[in-house]
Amino acid sequence: MSISTEGERIGIQQASDAVAITLSKMRAYARPGISTRELDDYGGELLMQMGARSAPKLTYDFPGYTCISVNSEVAHGVPAADKILQEGDLVNIDVSAELNGFWADNGGSFILGEDIHGHGKLVETSKAILKKAISQIKGGVRISDIGKLIETEAKKAGYTVIKNLTGHGIGRSLHEEPHDIANYCDRFNTDRFKKNSVVAIETFISTRSTIADTQADGWTLSGNKGGFVAQHEHTIMVTGGEPVIFTEKNGIWD
Ligand code: CO
Ligand code: CO
Repeated sequence: MSISTEGERIGIQQASDAVAITLSKMRAYARPGISTRELDDYGGELLMQMGARSAPKLTYDFPGYTCISVNSEVAHGVPAADKILQEGDLVNIDVSAELNGFWADNGGSFILGEDIHGHGKLVETSKAILKKAISQIKGGVRISDIGKLIETEAKKAGYTVIKNLTGHGIGRSLHEEPHDIANYCDRFNTDRFKKNSVVAIETFISTRSTIADTQADGWTLSGNKGGFVAQHEHTIMVTGGEPVIFTEKNGIWD
């Protein structure tokens, strides 16, 4: 959506606060020994307390309030009672929701407890790339140039990017125009970021895969060449200068 009134800006900010606070609290709640179902139920409760409704549930009838992807799962991990978190796991939580007709989306990968499997560099690289990409976005910038930046930075660090998962417009629904804010230079995409538009920018940085494939459960995505993926996502408003980061309360850059 494009923000043209103060009321719209407040609406997006409130939806963004709900998903950002939920993500931050879920991350703090995650610990070895609990199931991803327990963690998701906690997230669902937080959203409800703030009057927000899970976006994946509303939009896709997803079997969970949030997506929790662990280790080799790239995205859209289904919370389950038999998926028990362990020390050193690479965990991604993605929280998106609707509040009063406004939609916001955010996510982040982190290491549970001590980094015994050495995922730290991947997570830090993804965070840094999101920060750099967002700092370059303003009205008139080509979407493909941001994709190029993300891929170039990933390569520099020895990583690949997932090409079939993208950032997207958001605001009055979960996914809106522009639909494909890719993590690589898509030379067929001549679209530019528009001032006052609301977009969700997300990284998909991988140790080896380039495509995410759907697993037998119909939801969970995993990499075509295996390895691990880190994702970090903010909902922002494009301006003529630095973007407004609506979901900054999630603390993914802290
Ligand atoms: Co998103
Ligand atoms: Co998301």
